[in-house]
Amino acid sequence: MKKAILKIGFFAAVIFLAACSGDSNPGYEFMPNMYRSPSLETYGENNANGMNALTPVEGTVARGHLNTFNYDETLEGYLNAGNMAVNPMENTDEILADGKALYGMFCEHCHGKTGAGDGTMTHVIYSAVPHFNDDKTIRRSGTPMRELTSGHIFHAITYGLNAMGPHASQITEEERWKIALYVQEELQHYGLE
Ligand code: HEC
Repeated sequence: MKKAILKIGFFAAVIFLAACSGDSNPGYEFMPNMYRSPSLETYGENNANGMNALTPVEGTVARGHLNTFNYDETLEGYLNAGNMAVNPMENTDEILADGKALYGMFCEHCHGKTGAGDGTMTHVIYSAVPHFNDDKTIRRSGTPMRELTSGHIFHAITYGLNAMGPHASQITEEERWKIALYVQEELQHYGLE
């Protein structure tokens, strides 16, 4: 009987003491990380190991940016590209041949085999495709088609212009530079020299 009273007294004391700890104290917790996981903010700057989604993974290109060309879709971007962008492609027979093949796949149906704007697309929307070798009509570059630089051409391929849609999702940067080189070397002078 005495033992039973002692036991009851002991548990009563435990419950009493546990109840006294107040609301704000959660008591003893096993594995507190499971209740309150450390909050890693995706775009926070002070995460453990400096990890955050602000820094692109090495070798990747941030959305909206290119490796070799960062001019936006405005007229200003176009003009800056025309003045400053440098075609990284070497002018070799092999690269020109690639450019020609790519031009055949992506441009020729509108711009024509010789760049005279006489491709097989006959819809009225494409009735005013400019000649690459035109040296008279001044365009948005402030120069005629014949004098467009590879930066202008890269910009036009990337973002398009009016009836010409953007080709950024179909043609890689490297391929765009190859096409620009081909247009400059062959089509802007076609039949003129
Ligand atoms: C669907 C038809 C179409 C295709 C495909 C097309 N173009 Fe065009 N392109 C046009 C038209 C139309 C214009 C004239 C746009 C205007 O002046 O409003 C044009 C204009 C241009 C210009 C002049 C832009 C400027 O700055 O004035 C360049 C350079 C050009 N195209 C290059 C290309 C190249 C290179 C390709 C292939 C990668 C290509 N285009 C594919 C229809 C096309």
